[in-house]
Amino acid sequence: MMAPGDTLAAHEYPALADLMDMLALRYSVSPKFLAPPAPTAAQWQRAADLALRAPDHGGLRPFRFVIVGDAQRLPLAELFVQQALRRGHDTSEAQKARERAFNGPGLVALVAHIRADEADVPAHEQWLCVGAALMNFLNALHLMGFGAKALSGASVADPAIRKAFCNEGETLVSWVVAGRPTRAAHPKRQAAELPVIQPWQLPAD
Ligand SMILES: Cc1cc2nc3c(=O)[nH]c(=O)nc-3n(C[C@H](O)[C@H](O)[C@H](O)COP(=O)(O)O)c2cc1C
Repeated sequence: MMAPGDTLAAHEYPALADLMDMLALRYSVSPKFLAPPAPTAAQWQRAADLALRAPDHGGLRPFRFVIVGDAQRLPLAELFVQQALRRGHDTSEAQKARERAFNGPGLVALVAHIRADEADVPAHEQWLCVGAALMNFLNALHLMGFGAKALSGASVADPAIRKAFCNEGETLVSWVVAGRPTRAAHPKRQAAELPVIQPWQLPAD
């Protein structure tokens, strides 16, 4: 079993049973528990390649990921500050917004493009594809030994920030932070009591 923070070389990838065990231990890791290194360009690419394995009705590929480079954190911070000020926040809140732009050693934006004119692929199916892509992306990062978390907050709805990441018709869904976990990932809340899978019960009448 891997320890938090371990990363794998290709020849060390575990057997299938181990992979199932490892996937069962994927939990989100907050930025405050993430340390360098960030995923490399090749590791981000690998995660994005697994995201492409999401079920995609019509092959619309309604998602893409945008990597925010180290040198781009400053311009992102400026966008976050402007967003906070536009929302009427004071300078101390704006400073907190600035710091959020530096969250996580690695940072990508998840962008969705949901098409309204696809008669055979309603919007909810396209959103499911985006969600499945995010899940595969997070699972890939986890299997490579990274902690990660999807975070949206108010920034993704800000018009100037959206414009900086999205083309016409696209939605800025969330940020994904990733890095080396500094503590073991664990569930945030208890498992729901309702069964997640059960046999179909035919209606009584
Ligand atoms: C698109 C998306 C956006 C999210 N945005 C936030 C957020 O802004 N703040 C937050 O605390 N959790 C957010 N979450 C939830 C966390 O990423 C995480 O799933 C949650 O804390 C539960 O942890 P788990 O993934 O270990 O079950 C978001 C999840 C998704 C899918």
